Amino acid sequence: MYKIAVIGGDGTGPEVVREGLKVLDAVNGKFGVRMEYTSFDFGGERYLRTGELLPESAVAELRQFDAIFLGAIGHPDVKPGILEKGVLLNLRFQLDQYINLRPVKLYPNVDTPLKDKGPEDIDFVVVRENTEGLYTGSGGVLKKGTPDEVAIQTSINTRKGVERCIRYAFEYTRRRNKGKALTLCAKTNVLTFASDLWERAFHEVGQADYPDIKREYAHVDATTMWMVKNPEWFDVIVTDNLFGDIITDLGAMIQGGLGVAPGGSINPEGVSTFEPMGGSAPKYAGKDVINPMAAIGAAMMMLDTLGEKEAAARVEDAMVEVMQKMKSMSAGKMGYSTSQIGDMVAEAAAR
Ligand code: IPM
Ligand code: MN
Repeated sequence: MYKIAVIGGDGTGPEVVREGLKVLDAVNGKFGVRMEYTSFDFGGERYLRTGELLPESAVAELRQFDAIFLGAIGHPDVKPGILEKGVLLNLRFQLDQYINLRPVKLYPNVDTPLKDKGPEDIDFVVVRENTEGLYTGSGGVLKKGTPDEVAIQTSINTRKGVERCIRYAFEYTRRRNKGKALTLCAKTNVLTFASDLWERAFHEVGQADYPDIKREYAHVDATTMWMVKNPEWFDVIVTDNLFGDIITDLGAMIQGGLGVAPGGSINPEGVSTFEPMGGSAPKYAGKDVINPMAAIGAAMMMLDTLGEKEAAARVEDAMVEVMQKMKSMSAGKMGYSTSQIGDMVAEAAAR
């Protein structure tokens, strides 16, 4: 029996999570997988009501679960940064979810803005470091609000943190068994301390323990260029927290938009969170028009990470089947409502 914590969150979060759970129930019934869900109400609504973000006791409680299924965190009435730092990043850091795994996969019948590129060209995975870099909040400000203001925001890169991420990426590339190539995305020509550490760790680990995996390198600026021009060159990309954040939004766009892009904040030895990459999309909330495919994809990644490979593969097949019938992956233009799509994927998954 898997214990799953469910955080619907804000905006369209609860709607897409509902469809994800619908599909999980359907496929779990088919494969004899048992899950028990417990809901938590973290997010903007709760913060505005109680001033509470993520209480200490909640983190302790969440540690007892096998996985977390999250909708979206973000509220138009809350100043940017508060919920992100207080809930989302707090959770990633406290649960030491040091990997952010983001598959960039274009499914059949899904539109990509890339001319002359199809599903055979767009199928790679970004392994983003998720607990260090520019996200630690390290730094400070002097003379704030004056003409002499100084702002320092430091990128933290520890050998341990970098190496565990790189090892995960090599292991993942080997397991994926597609191009057997791992690309380090960094900026060695400018970040001669941080990217240098990444580069040395990358080659040392690769040479010693993963001789079967081809090692490639691309500067982050060039990476964005290749992702548009020749996405077929990539198999797995490993990169730091901020570079990974940026290139995976580009990745989401070339795979058909935020409506189809799932991700996982993973602690390979602990509790992981699975979520659609899109935000809370408040303007679509409660209208039954948002695309739940990304959340369903996140549910699929959760099954896969829990070791339920067959069930995960079945969900993916069901997603592909339903995407063939959809008019578009964009909210309000799908030809079906949010809940209809959930029903269709659930039906296909249980068949
Ligand atoms: C993401 C998001 C977050 C990030 C924000 C909301 C803090 O953009 O999951 O990619 O930057 O990691
Ligand atoms: Mn992002």
